Amino acid sequence: MLEKALWIRNPYDIGTVSPEFRKKISLRTRVKKATLLASAMGAYNIYVNGKKVGNSVLTPGFTSFDNRVLYAEYDVTDLLTEKTVLSILCGDGWARHNFGFTKRIFTSHVSAIAALMIEYENGETDVIYTDETWEVYTSHILFSALYHGETVDKTVEIKLIGNAQADDSPHPALHKQTTFVTEQERIAVKEIIRTPKGELVLDFGQNIAGYVEVKVCGNRGKQIVLSHAEVLDKDGNFYTENMRSARNLCTYVLSGTEDVFKPTFSFQGFRYVRIDECPENITSESFTAVVIHTDMKRIGSFVCGNADLNKLYSNIIWGQKGNFVDIPTDCPQRDERLGWTGDAQVFCRTAAMNFDVEAFFDKWLTDMALEQREDGAIYRFVPFVGWWNGNISSGWSDAAVICPWEVYNAYGNKEFLRKYYPMMKKWVDYVHSAGEEEFLWLGDNHYGDWLALDAGEGKYLGATQRDLIAGAYFYYSASLLAKAEEALGIDNSKTLLLAKNVKNAFREAFMKDGMPVIYPKHDGLSTSRPVKAVTQTSLSLILHFGLFEENEREALTDALCDLIRQSGGAMTTGFLGTPYILHALSDNGRINEAYDLLLRKQAPSWLFSVTKGATTIWEHWDGIKEDGSFWSADMNSFNHYAYGCVFDWMFANVGGIKVLDGGAGYERISICPKPDPRLGFAECGIKTRRGDLYVKWSIEENATRYELDIPCGTKAFLSLPGGKTAELSHGKYIFIE
Ligand code: BGC
Repeated sequence: MLEKALWIRNPYDIGTVSPEFRKKISLRTRVKKATLLASAMGAYNIYVNGKKVGNSVLTPGFTSFDNRVLYAEYDVTDLLTEKTVLSILCGDGWARHNFGFTKRIFTSHVSAIAALMIEYENGETDVIYTDETWEVYTSHILFSALYHGETVDKTVEIKLIGNAQADDSPHPALHKQTTFVTEQERIAVKEIIRTPKGELVLDFGQNIAGYVEVKVCGNRGKQIVLSHAEVLDKDGNFYTENMRSARNLCTYVLSGTEDVFKPTFSFQGFRYVRIDECPENITSESFTAVVIHTDMKRIGSFVCGNADLNKLYSNIIWGQKGNFVDIPTDCPQRDERLGWTGDAQVFCRTAAMNFDVEAFFDKWLTDMALEQREDGAIYRFVPFVGWWNGNISSGWSDAAVICPWEVYNAYGNKEFLRKYYPMMKKWVDYVHSAGEEEFLWLGDNHYGDWLALDAGEGKYLGATQRDLIAGAYFYYSASLLAKAEEALGIDNSKTLLLAKNVKNAFREAFMKDGMPVIYPKHDGLSTSRPVKAVTQTSLSLILHFGLFEENEREALTDALCDLIRQSGGAMTTGFLGTPYILHALSDNGRINEAYDLLLRKQAPSWLFSVTKGATTIWEHWDGIKEDGSFWSADMNSFNHYAYGCVFDWMFANVGGIKVLDGGAGYERISICPKPDPRLGFAECGIKTRRGDLYVKWSIEENATRYELDIPCGTKAFLSLPGGKTAELSHGKYIFIE
């Protein structure tokens, strides 16, 4: 239906004011059905007779605008009246946003498109398209920008400024929108704080992505000005430096009657809101924090007898909510909010346990596939907003294989895997051809073990050789590709051979006598940071990806435990070592050491942030240090989900649930819970597509009691620590050992 509609734009200079396109229509007779399709290069809200259509926000979302933009379909049958006004209010959204780093803007101007199909009861039809008969009005939104917030003035007069202009500049293909960001939760003010500097600050008690809704009645022309922050500094003052250039500032000018304000085309990442200006009579009840994220079904649950771990779990969930705002973002607050592929791949398995994320990843991976270069390269963030310090990195771009695989493994949808198989294969082919060595990936500018602590204070790159990491990921991606081929019934002999060659080359270059060594070229010599061979990350990758020979297992595991001991019982891993370190320990007989790391409270650790009052996952282990000072203002988000990937270990070890090879979608699983007295009890559950799966255990006086619930069509191989084994199918079970 949209083929006949024109893209329209506002040709008049109205500065940063949001334009509203309007069309008056008259109905011929009684309506049987009315369907509205709409999209914008920018963001839009569409209204019928002043009533917002649909419940999504920031529509049509963030896609690879060079390739596609999404349109949504709405049923508006009940909204039409004899004389109907259709209106489309537009903001810059993502398409006309000034992104961090690159300052790439996809379109120089906002444009909109819509079609309304009316079927009358008498069988006649009308179709109304956007065209030059639509009028352009100004609006109350004087300014809006994703990073910077919004200015709304209810005192300005809304004016008709003329007719819309057909926009004949090239537009991307229109694809149907399948996922929507919506308002999900509302949070009341928890506390009002007067900071040492005298600032008036609202604490909502939870770091979120969303915005504040203000209900107020005050003198016409009075202003409310709100600033947003994630944390207070060590003196208790409002801290916004870590937002970098993102202003996150909302300014509302009151109409004089009852007003409800909230941003329309921006969102903020915050827990605290500073009231920079407001009318005198305002109370805390006037403010509500509104949580937004993509609409996804919650499927996972976890609770245990350790309050700190429960809080960590809650923080992981909130990290996902805060960063699954249309695309998987690194963070929702500073001048970034990009679809960093590395962050998404390390968190993907956890994400798929917490919520049903198939549609969410389907949307994002579609853009990834569209942006995949001819030679198979995948950029570091998707949608790609332009060049910044190199484009491709191992462990980041490997998301092209890891994410489709993890989503398939979680839900068992072969069509999903089939859809992304060409992208997965092309990516592995790209790595195969990258660099001068066929089976290694040498010399590129990778992020390596980003933010690891083993290269010393204040360094971004960890000490592990980046070429070693690139080789390890090459092997991992090739191995997953071979598994995908097996699942799809594709001959995988070539990929298996490739993986074998990569493993041999890796061992030849990076290992000697069963231990990692420095590869005397490239990265080993070329950076100013200290580069080490035997690190927690190199050992974790070798152990977890299976780059060792059986007779080396023990010594590698011992070396990992030694390194942990040498760093005072702490991990020093960054983005690429952290997802695997606990697996590397527990899969090799060191479950206690894994629990020790998980339950450690001193910095650096997962629970350190919990003891510091975190309500989400931090970007850095030491985002806030022991003495309360900050890591740096430059790169210090308090809502970065990546380290929340630890939940996939908790699920597989505390709960003991693992999807077995060839058992995607929980068709074949192992259940091997590993109770630890420090937890007392644990309950781990997931609503699989086959039904509910639960594992509960509690340590009682002389025994441990296990309760299981296995869904229909799942085959579970049980193995309990006391020696009990069983093959279980649908049903509820109790075991005592
Ligand atoms: C982001 C990360 C990302 C990284 C790449 C940062 O600015 O916030 O999470 O993966 O850059 O190293």
